Amino acid sequence: MQDAIEILKIYNQDHIIKLLDKLDETKKAELIEQINKIDFHQIMELYDNTKKEIEIKENKIESIKYLDKERLSKTQRDEFDSLGEMAIRKGEYAVVTMAGGQGTRLGHTGPKGTFKLDVYGKGKYLFEILTENLKEANKKYDTIIPWYIMTSKENNDETLEFLEKNNYFGYPKEFVNLFKQGELPLVDTKGKLLINKDMKIKEASDGNGGVFSSLRTSGMLSDMKERNIKWVFIGGVDNAILKMVDVTLLGMAIKNGVKIASKSVVKANPHERVGVFCKMNGHPKVIEYSELPEKMAEEIDENGELKYGESHIMCNLFSIEAIEKVSKEYLMYHSAFKKNSYIDEDGREIIPEEPNSYKFESFIFDSFEFFDDIAILRGKREDDFAPVKNKDGVDSPKTAKELYEKYWERQKCQKVRVFLKLLSRF
Ligand code: UTP
Repeated sequence: MQDAIEILKIYNQDHIIKLLDKLDETKKAELIEQINKIDFHQIMELYDNTKKEIEIKENKIESIKYLDKERLSKTQRDEFDSLGEMAIRKGEYAVVTMAGGQGTRLGHTGPKGTFKLDVYGKGKYLFEILTENLKEANKKYDTIIPWYIMTSKENNDETLEFLEKNNYFGYPKEFVNLFKQGELPLVDTKGKLLINKDMKIKEASDGNGGVFSSLRTSGMLSDMKERNIKWVFIGGVDNAILKMVDVTLLGMAIKNGVKIASKSVVKANPHERVGVFCKMNGHPKVIEYSELPEKMAEEIDENGELKYGESHIMCNLFSIEAIEKVSKEYLMYHSAFKKNSYIDEDGREIIPEEPNSYKFESFIFDSFEFFDDIAILRGKREDDFAPVKNKDGVDSPKTAKELYEKYWERQKCQKVRVFLKLLSRF
């Protein structure tokens, strides 16, 4: 107890000392146990960093090479597709869905995957949409792709319950594995750790970059190796038209002999708030919109396109060796200013209307820097990207519904066209 109080004093967490005084013996013991596990030095360092300007001037930034899926020659496309298809048919492909986020902007109570998108009248849950995508691929390539779902401590039980209740939307249960990611405390603008309803320090998932170490520590990486998986697609839970099984992307990675690959879409305009691919000091990198100097954001290349115009859409592919490598590396933490409820000193629950606290997150794309090269395949926004991020406006359920329905409408028309073409041969 005394040690915990000393730590709290050093790091100016007097409100937690006061809280300890008010708790019964069991709750007190639980809180002390938690305090002893937290690296306060790290948290305060991350908090101090929120006050510092991000400096990128000394870095050498260059544009990155990519291939446009639409402009591949037939030979090239066929070669990629057949290489990708072969690996999938051999059972060397797995999918990871990162579903450990808090989804604060969407404001849905419950894990984001349990959000029902109002499509085709009846609506579909995001998890349901993902499952349909995987089931279709299984049918097409005559396989069952192992599916790993990353949850957080906060939403794991609810996610599991939801999937069980919905019978995994028909996905073979023995091929679905849930694993939890790590957490870090949330800190308010004065550097005080937030208190949760259960009278413990409030923690939240430590960003989607946590996927690599969590895959290893949870035993999922070993599971993949046992299943002889060679390639792992890692994507988010909140893109209603995410292509989790793209043979062209996979084949391109295999053909190019790279360890990582990613799908991009062209930036909608120079100032769209998305991260873009570049090479920094010779390594692949996604540079955040806030960190890209205005002049560079507007720079045009020899083809008249934005020089830094390939947006990262959370559609990434890693070889199993790449996952193993990154899982042992340190990924830096970024801070995100978010709305988080907490218990105040009088024991009242405060639900903020505006962002009030910092969440520390590592990002999946920071892993790219550990490699010399990446294969980037430019997709099409209307075919690849329908994000569900905000409650209203851009990237909201409304825009995602429109994109989703239009996409499937186009697919139907395409099928009819193929059918008619075949028919005309007879
Ligand atoms: P976002 O960065 O959009 O975050 O996640 P979010 O938590 O879903 O939403 P906001 O920012 O609170 O509104 C992109 C993807 O990464 C996953 C999310 O579940 C989503 O699929 N993610 C994010 C995690 O799995 N863990 C995290 O700690 C953060």
